[in-house]
Amino acid sequence: MNARVEHALNDQVVKENSSSQFYLAMASWAENNGLNGTAKFLYTQSDEERFHMLKLIKFINERGGKAIIPGLTQPPAEFKNLENVFELLLEHELAVTDSINDLVDICLQEKDYSTHNFVQWYVSEQLEEEAQARTILDKLKLIGEDKGGMYMFDRDLENSTISVSTQSSAGQAK
Ligand code: FEO
Repeated sequence: MNARVEHALNDQVVKENSSSQFYLAMASWAENNGLNGTAKFLYTQSDEERFHMLKLIKFINERGGKAIIPGLTQPPAEFKNLENVFELLLEHELAVTDSINDLVDICLQEKDYSTHNFVQWYVSEQLEEEAQARTILDKLKLIGEDKGGMYMFDRDLENSTISVSTQSSAGQAK
């Protein structure tokens, strides 16, 4: 496997790992603050990020590279409020998107078209995750301090009835 591509893929492993830990910390915070629906949603997000990491690890190894398993960095334990949680989540996803875009660039520069093809899955995934975070943030801004609204929001998130239109946000880029 091309050494530069391998290095970039391993960098992405670090980022997916830190996303998983970050969302796990958010989930735990939400659980401790009585937001059980939000916690369930964030625990699932954390699991998804771990899946993103595993998919990279397996790809690197299957292609004859060597996946490096990163250590854990402690994420924050406290958050200002729920809006702050999702602001941080969106900010984090935007940084991950930048990193995926860099990875796409490197694949093209190195003419590694099969890795380029593999990375396209992450490109689509980022589009969805950014759209989802924006939809949730918009809802939280509408709710503001309304406790009844927050109760409904948490319940909706638990049942995952907050639907996301990736189409509407596709044009919003960053
Ligand atoms: Fe796997 Fe949300 O980045």
